[in-house]
Amino acid sequence: MKIWTITNQKGGAGKTVLATNLAVEGSRAGLKTLLIDLDPQQSATKWWEARDAETPLLIKCLYNQLIDNLNSAQQQGFELVIIDTAGREGLKHIEAIERATFAIIPCQPSLDDCRSALPTVDIIKNTKTPFAFIITRCPSSGDDLQEARNSLSTIGLVCNTPTMERKCYKRAYAENLSVCEYDANDKGAGEIKAIFDWIHSKESRLENTQLTRAVG
Ligand SMILES: Nc1ncnc2c1ncn2[C@@H]1O[C@H](COP(=O)(O)OP(=O)(O)O)[C@@H](O)[C@H]1O
Ligand SMILES: [Mg+2]
Repeated sequence: MKIWTITNQKGGAGKTVLATNLAVEGSRAGLKTLLIDLDPQQSATKWWEARDAETPLLIKCLYNQLIDNLNSAQQQGFELVIIDTAGREGLKHIEAIERATFAIIPCQPSLDDCRSALPTVDIIKNTKTPFAFIITRCPSSGDDLQEARNSLSTIGLVCNTPTMERKCYKRAYAENLSVCEYDANDKGAGEIKAIFDWIHSKESRLENTQLTRAVG
């Protein structure tokens, strides 16, 4: 069972938008997908409760319930679990990072946002969980994207597809949909698919490397 934990202590980084969209993408890719809402503010839960679609499933979860919930997700045959976490809760969701097969750090392309992600990076590095940055809400002009790429790539992997600042993300979210469900032809839908595929392939490559090491 893959566990992708979306984390960044900075509020507004785009965690919930990414978590909800990637969870829908997981279901669309045919994976039995569970979204775990670990944020006491429960934004993902409110989005999910107003949906008509049956997938992905979501559970809201207190910190001390996480391990039990992950164990029961495994028993129920979930193939992908995506965990949306709170901003300013520091180490409270450390188990979600420790248990993750991949940690994802959404980060807006500004110096302040890149700096604000550093404490989160330190926490992840201590757990040895593989991680990558997804640059979010990029303006369509200017050097911000390239500068953020340059600075974040000195710290860790950076997904080659960012999310651009697009109305479709806000509109889809307001209608309790993913961007693909809202408008499959919107460029945002292509971004989410590319990000999903990128994480999936990075993780598969990591698994192969670990397997080769174990066998060799
Ligand atoms: N790519 C994007 N384009 C436009 N708006 C976005 C994008 N990603 C996120 N947002 C908006 O940014 C705000 C913060 O996103 P959110 O996912 O709630 O952040 P977090 O969960 O990290 O606090 C929300 O209003 C959301 O709709
Ligand atoms: Mg959130």
